[in-house]
Amino acid sequence: MRPEVVATIAALRARTRAAGSVAFVPTMGALHEGHLTLAREAARRGELAVMSIFVNPLQFGPNEDFSRYPRPLEADLDKAGEAGTHLVFAPTPDEMYPPGDQTRVAVPALARGLCGPHRPGHFDGVATVVCKLLNAVGPCVAIFGRKDYQQLKVIERMVRDLAIPAEIVGMPIVREPDGLAMSSRNAYLSPPERERALSLSRGLASARAIFAAGERDAAALRAAAHSPVAAAADSIDYVTVADPESLEELASAVGDRALVAIAARIGRTRLIDNVVLPGLGAAT
Ligand code: PAF
Repeated sequence: MRPEVVATIAALRARTRAAGSVAFVPTMGALHEGHLTLAREAARRGELAVMSIFVNPLQFGPNEDFSRYPRPLEADLDKAGEAGTHLVFAPTPDEMYPPGDQTRVAVPALARGLCGPHRPGHFDGVATVVCKLLNAVGPCVAIFGRKDYQQLKVIERMVRDLAIPAEIVGMPIVREPDGLAMSSRNAYLSPPERERALSLSRGLASARAIFAAGERDAAALRAAAHSPVAAAADSIDYVTVADPESLEELASAVGDRALVAIAARIGRTRLIDNVVLPGLGAAT
């Protein structure tokens, strides 16, 4: 069934306040199977399953893809409804950032590494919009994908630090059968670029394989992840082996768990992927 659509915070609050339990999936639309997995989880967990669709200008840099980011709202509503979403919040930029808006949320240490230096201001933009969305929705379970692993850690920290009444749930990365992590930005890839994009999940699979064979040297794990990407990508922002909680880069030996994260450009498209070792299945 098609979900009900509201565009104002007041209308959203009127619906969530009347609901028993609320499960919430924030998105920027262009929904794919990864989002729909989150939406189905929301439908399982909440009496009211809410999704937001808002391409947040604050989290895009001046040379990023804000204007060309796909916005297929009608198709998204159909998909959200099929996945069990009851209510979609689709605000205008003015509703989220009214005239005079100036408050920002920053989670500086967790935003410092990985994507931080390559996307200045991005995580402040994410933290600010997610804080506002969670305030608008009210007490809820909020469900995020682990593909944006750094985003998930930033949001978990923000929710704890600001005592926001939301339980944050991180769901496993959803992959295409050949391993490519699902992303709205995959739509930008030409067929040859898509083939080259597989180097990210292949790099992670190599790191996972040597970790499973006992390798604990951070440089060796990084090199295993790096080499397929170096051969296929047009440029690499980072291939990092880091502590999965602090996101601090690991210089020498890794412990029982390590985050291996990659950001690289294939053609004009910037892709990210990660695995938390030991990992489950194929580069999850
Ligand atoms: O992951 C996303 O799609 C966005 O960063 C989010 C969490 C919806 C905030 O705009």
